[in-house]
Amino acid sequence: MRFSFLSLLLAPALAAAADPTTTYDYIVVGSGPGGGPLSAELARAGYSTLLIEAGTDQWDNPTYADIQNFNEAANDETTRWDFWVKHSDDAARDLKFKHTTWDTGDGTFYVGLDPPEGAKLLGIQYPRAAVLGGCAMHNAGVASLPEDDDWNRIVNLTGDASWEAGKMREYLKRIERNEYAGVDDATHGHDGWLAISNTDPSWAKNDSNPAVKIMKRLAQLTGQDPSQVADLANTDLLGDFPNRDTMSSFFNMATHSDKNGKRASPNNYIRATLADPAKYPLTVKLNTLATKVLFNTTTGSKPRAIGIEVMEGSSLYRADPKHIPGTTAPKVHRYFANREVILSGGVFNTPQLLKLSGIGPATELQKFNISVVVDSPGVGEGLTDNYEGSVLGLGKVPIESGLITILFRTPNAPTAKRNIYAWCGAFSFEGFWPGYPTYYGAEQFSCAMVHVKPRSQDGSVRLTSADPQDKPEINFRFFEHGGDEDLSELVSAANILRESWQAAGEEVLPFNELHPCPSSESNSTCSEAQQAEFFKTQAYSHHATSSCQIGAEGDEMAVLDSKFRVRGTEGLRVVDASAFPNVPGFFPSVPTMMISVKAAGDVLAAAREAEADADAGVGK
Ligand SMILES: Cc1cc2nc3c(=O)[nH]c(=O)nc-3n(C[C@H](O)[C@H](O)[C@H](O)COP(=O)(O)OP(=O)(O)OC[C@H]3O[C@@H](n4cnc5c(N)ncnc54)[C@H](O)[C@@H]3O)c2cc1C
Ligand SMILES: *[C@@H]1O[C@H](CO)[C@@H](O)[C@H](O)[C@H]1NC(C)=O
Ligand SMILES: *[C@@H]1O[C@H](CO)[C@@H](O)[C@H](O)[C@H]1NC(C)=O
Ligand SMILES: *[C@@H]1O[C@H](CO)[C@@H](O)[C@H](O)[C@H]1NC(C)=O
Ligand SMILES: *[C@@H]1O[C@H](CO)[C@@H](O)[C@H](O)[C@H]1NC(C)=O
Ligand SMILES: *[C@@H]1O[C@H](CO)[C@@H](O)[C@H](O)[C@H]1NC(C)=O
Repeated sequence: MRFSFLSLLLAPALAAAADPTTTYDYIVVGSGPGGGPLSAELARAGYSTLLIEAGTDQWDNPTYADIQNFNEAANDETTRWDFWVKHSDDAARDLKFKHTTWDTGDGTFYVGLDPPEGAKLLGIQYPRAAVLGGCAMHNAGVASLPEDDDWNRIVNLTGDASWEAGKMREYLKRIERNEYAGVDDATHGHDGWLAISNTDPSWAKNDSNPAVKIMKRLAQLTGQDPSQVADLANTDLLGDFPNRDTMSSFFNMATHSDKNGKRASPNNYIRATLADPAKYPLTVKLNTLATKVLFNTTTGSKPRAIGIEVMEGSSLYRADPKHIPGTTAPKVHRYFANREVILSGGVFNTPQLLKLSGIGPATELQKFNISVVVDSPGVGEGLTDNYEGSVLGLGKVPIESGLITILFRTPNAPTAKRNIYAWCGAFSFEGFWPGYPTYYGAEQFSCAMVHVKPRSQDGSVRLTSADPQDKPEINFRFFEHGGDEDLSELVSAANILRESWQAAGEEVLPFNELHPCPSSESNSTCSEAQQAEFFKTQAYSHHATSSCQIGAEGDEMAVLDSKFRVRGTEGLRVVDASAFPNVPGFFPSVPTMMISVKAAGDVLAAAREAEADADAGVGK
């Protein structure tokens, strides 16, 4: 074991063999939910670790520190990386997305269906945060767990029993500092680095509140007891219920933030690791863009990752709105890893970086004259996401309440499992664009829906050039397969939610629905087909995963093995949301932090094995 005091003394000594300012045991690229916790764990185990992050540290900036400012955070130029994505190969369909964004050429965006003359099409905005802590610093922080079978499927694919659902909860317990469950609640963690809290649900006790009237009707429609809504509204979103994946229920939305509303993220853990009196050997380099993985191809049977190339400076990546076009690229620097390089740049950047380094589909790499190190056709393929859409309307008067949070199964769901996560309240959420969301006035009321288990998993992240400062081309190919079935589930959910609104009471009714069935267009219920068309063109997403998947041995599309190792290489792993074979449930942030600490265990186990081998060698 290297958790000993001795190992803390030894680690710097090992590194001293090479230049300690450029050589580390481990190099981790990206400080988000995938890379952040992992880098801290490796350093805490005594190994010198270099964490490379393209962005800055905003831990004390209230835009990021106060979780309620999440919309402001995702819009903020300080950290924003703009990816302009496609939802399909059908350009005409994408142009129907009401918040398609255009570059007007005068430094402003046009968002909408009727761009001014000469405006250049950008696409559909997909926000990312370049900042210490990654997108967990600008997200809404919803803390939820995958279905058990999302984990169990990895066991089936790879034969690695360490992914069993029952075992995965242990990683939640390790990272969590739960603030709402009792200290003796053994299903939760209580002394981890990630604060998780929820909100006061007592508003749901007020039977005169229109939102509670809506809940009671919704309870009837989803097989719950309407007389129990006040209690149901306090159900633990991270609870370990035996029927957790099939039960339709209201929940108390948990978020990775503390009870004072301060955001918790990998940033906390990285900062605590740096500040610890034990002086863990963690080095963080901000404003540093990794551009390539370096390989030694003459050692062993497989190319071995031995380091990375980086560019140092701020706003170097062209997704950064602060990037100044035409500036010359800074000189490339190299850092070396004695042990391993771990890529955690997120679902768009990790496949891009692998491809720039020669790991990817050979034909695509050859197109850009990148020498092929490993022909790995799955890199950048299989990108997927949950489909999201909302029912939005204006009541006659504002509804004041907490958020109604519900997980339910629509009657047309393909299995016994829940397929919709929805939250309802006085807000609007229609996807992403510069300046989102629209404020429709105090009377606005929405149910935002997340649909899980899309039947289609055909998205891609592909190079546009060999220039590491360029953005890749991202196409989600929504609804490519089984789209009609997925859409009918969304429509079914919208019908249920809309019907519940009719119980809001006289002072609120009627709702002036803006979508998917605009009241202004018809007095009658709009057709299933109209609603399906609405969701087909207006669906959005922000839980992208699976662009470098873990998968079965022998499956050429499986980029990683079950220990996150990049197949065909040595000393190289991918640990971030791109590793999931499919979207892990409704929200990926906490699951990604869980696999980050799981991966740290795998990396450290390999280190101990190598040390044991070396010791055995010495003894001979
Ligand atoms: C607006 C928004 C709201 C969201 N809300 C929720 C939510 O409520 N709940 C939830 O569970 N999930 C939510 N998500 C999704 C969740 O935040 C992400 O799935 C999660 O952060 C993914 O983690 P990651 O480590 O894979 O990547 P990221 O979080 O994207 O982290 C990658 C990091 O790597 C850095 N990086 C990338 N390339 C390089 C490079 N070449 N060199 C150096 N550094 C690099 C980036 O700067 C970034 O810091 C939301 C996402 C968005 C955009
Ligand atoms: C895993 O495989 C077993 C045996 O084939 C099967 O019964 C089970 O449904 C599979 N589970 C998942 C999540 O794929
Ligand atoms: C209950 O809700 C009604 C209607 O919104 C409101 O007028 C009243 O003040 C609420 N009562 C309490 C105790 O919050
Ligand atoms: C590659 O590995 C071989 C064998 O271990 C070693 O001799 C050589 O110096 C290495 N090359 C580089 C560039 O590290
Ligand atoms: C690749 O190299 C060839 C030969 O040097 C050159 O003609 C071609 O333009 C290059 N392609 C790219 C995309 O750089
Ligand atoms: C809807 O029906 C009401 C009552 O019949 C009528 O007053 C109103 O004008 C109708 N609205 C539209 C948009 O047709």
